[in-house]
Amino acid sequence: MTRVLSAVAWPYANGPRHIGHVSGFGVPADIFSRYMRMAGHEVLMVSGTDEHGTPILVQADEEGLTAREAADKYNRIIVEDLHALGMSYDLFTRTTTGNHYVTVQQLFTALYDNGYILAKTTMGAISPSTGRTLPDRYIEGTCPICGYDGARGDQCDNCGNQLDPEDLINPKSRINGEAPKFVEEEHFFLDLPAFADALNAWLDTRTGWRPNVVRFTRNLLDDLKPRAISRDLDWGVPVPLEGWRDRSDKKLYVWFDAVIGYLSASIEWARRSGDPDAWRAWWQDPNAQGFYFMGKDNIVFHSEIWPAILLGNNGQGATGGKPGELGELQLPTEVVSSEFLTMEGKKFSSSRRVVIYVRDFLERYDPDALRYFIAVAGPENQDTDFTWAEFVRRNNDELVAGWGNLVNRSVAMAAKNFGAIPAAGSLVDIDTELLNTTKAAFETVGELLGANRIKAAVGEAMKTVALVNKYLADTAPWKLKEDRDRMATVLHVALQAVDDCKTMLAPFLPFSAQKIHELLGGEGVFAAMPRIEEVTELDGVGPLAGDTYPILTGDYSDAPRWESRPIKVGHPLEKPTPIFTKLDPSIIDEELERLGGNDS
Ligand code: MF3
Ligand code: ZN
Repeated sequence: MTRVLSAVAWPYANGPRHIGHVSGFGVPADIFSRYMRMAGHEVLMVSGTDEHGTPILVQADEEGLTAREAADKYNRIIVEDLHALGMSYDLFTRTTTGNHYVTVQQLFTALYDNGYILAKTTMGAISPSTGRTLPDRYIEGTCPICGYDGARGDQCDNCGNQLDPEDLINPKSRINGEAPKFVEEEHFFLDLPAFADALNAWLDTRTGWRPNVVRFTRNLLDDLKPRAISRDLDWGVPVPLEGWRDRSDKKLYVWFDAVIGYLSASIEWARRSGDPDAWRAWWQDPNAQGFYFMGKDNIVFHSEIWPAILLGNNGQGATGGKPGELGELQLPTEVVSSEFLTMEGKKFSSSRRVVIYVRDFLERYDPDALRYFIAVAGPENQDTDFTWAEFVRRNNDELVAGWGNLVNRSVAMAAKNFGAIPAAGSLVDIDTELLNTTKAAFETVGELLGANRIKAAVGEAMKTVALVNKYLADTAPWKLKEDRDRMATVLHVALQAVDDCKTMLAPFLPFSAQKIHELLGGEGVFAAMPRIEEVTELDGVGPLAGDTYPILTGDYSDAPRWESRPIKVGHPLEKPTPIFTKLDPSIIDEELERLGGNDS
């Protein structure tokens, strides 16, 4: 048993989530976490809404809301989106809790005391029309290094280099297109160069990372510059220093606070679980592992900034130091980043209506259908296009015709001929071969899942499904009316193999796994689901002081083991209703029309 932290990127509370978001950070993390629990590990899966920074302020402005109101509104919507998708968080919280504010300030203080935070006067960008700070990510221009014309003020996605907004050629605000004005501002900087050696040494010991992530990270570590971690904003975590604490115009940078969320959420989870020190087992034990899930635009924050913050807290940068008050903390085991999902050949864009929101999707289709598509055709290793035609094809040909139909006809045949799960007589080669194959698949699929090779894993599981279908075609139990013993054996073997496939597919398809479990006489919870709980803020500090807020949590501790379990001979069977819904191809045009809806 290993303790495994599943650290899932924190969605901005600035809108409902669309399927591009959840194919990057969400579903892959849930598949991994569900598998690791079944493999016997102690998983702690945490995240929450990211509620500070300009993305929230811009959205609030647009809707005539305060930042707090916008954060409340979208926090709740996102919680509902992720709940509907069956995302099995131990805790999904918010960055506006007092617990988070305290944790962020503890890390800032540790870094500051160890000498890794520098105060500097710099040029900051403001919007000439509003007088408000323009965050790096909201400034766009030409990259001075590679000439890419969509570079952002913090980073060029083309060459991967870290940038300052002033470096950009022809900088423009992404909010309203105006050229930013640069003014003198006093700010705190994280001394990233002081961690160059430690970060490189850490990266050298990492194995099994996706090649793109390693390459991108190497590139980043080649060119480390101090990075501003405060902003001229009135919305954020206060800088915990004399003379700064109460300032309404300076707060910590949203990315500095957000990445600390993994730790603060673990602490909040522990406090709510009744054992306030329980988080330490995932953070302080060198044998514990931490996997971080995100889309590729988040890599820099997880493979450079977050490990640097942790090293600084630990006193492990160039000038040493001692661990802060939370003790020495473990760096990530792996940064698991996916690439981007596009939508019918275009970039997702809420404003241009190139978007499908999770909740709209789930109003019309099943969560397992979406989870399946993301697993089998998501942007795991390269940018990938979502098309409705491909969604319908995968759903109808693979999920419905391949897997759903196998469940249906094997259960229906057994119901019709025996009214129950039949016992097997003596097995012949073709039977034992099938049962051995499904048993062996646990190992193959499990290894792939443990390595976050989700596409290959679901491919192997579906290959097993195909072999069971082939077994039925080869043994043709419907022709065995004259030989009831043989028919019973074949159907028993088929149902056992179906049950094995159900277990193997549970991390991907938890909703249908639960249904099939019950169909075959299983009791209780097979694939645990998260629940939404309204809780009271714990500390009386920060924006939520004294209020309640919704969290996602759940009890996943009794996860079924990742192994074959004997089916229940004699359990009564009825003709089942279909597990999955076949889609009429006409929905492709319907959906495309919805998408284009406002354009023409
Ligand atoms: N809110 C960020 C985004 O949507 C992700 C934050 S991940 C965290 O891009 F680790 F910083 F929280
Ligand atoms: Zn560039």
